[in-house]
Amino acid sequence: MKKILFFVLLIHYSQICFARPFENGNAQTGKLLVEKNCVSCHASSFGGDGSGIYLRDDRIVKTSSGLLTQVRNCNTMIGLKWFEDDELNVARYLNDNYYKFEK
Ligand code: HEC
Repeated sequence: MKKILFFVLLIHYSQICFARPFENGNAQTGKLLVEKNCVSCHASSFGGDGSGIYLRDDRIVKTSSGLLTQVRNCNTMIGLKWFEDDELNVARYLNDNYYKFEK
């Protein structure tokens, strides 16, 4: 019995310690939002599918909190009135696929 409790707690705590950024975001929804609102502009300045902007050497986003800030900046710049949920969804999608920050 004690053993089970120990493992339950271990799993519980490891999830807290290793929680990935934007865990509550939905990458699927984020992908659709990015494709609809963001890609065409990035693609016109960076070519291809626009994802080069996230992967370039001198990219401006260096941390997961920086990523969220940048998502908000571009979002505000083009006047989308996204809710925080959508910002998280987009940040999750961009992080899972490009930035891959661990925390
Ligand atoms: C009107 C053009 C335009 C649109 C639309 C746009 N962006 Fe951007 N975005 C830019 C430009 C230009 C930069 C580069 C800024 C720089 O280098 O200082 C950028 C940079 C970024 C970066 C940082 C890339 C890096 O260097 O790490 C992210 C993330 C980003 N945009 C997300 C988004 C998201 C999410 C949307 C959709 C809500 C969006 N952008 C829509 C023009 C746009």
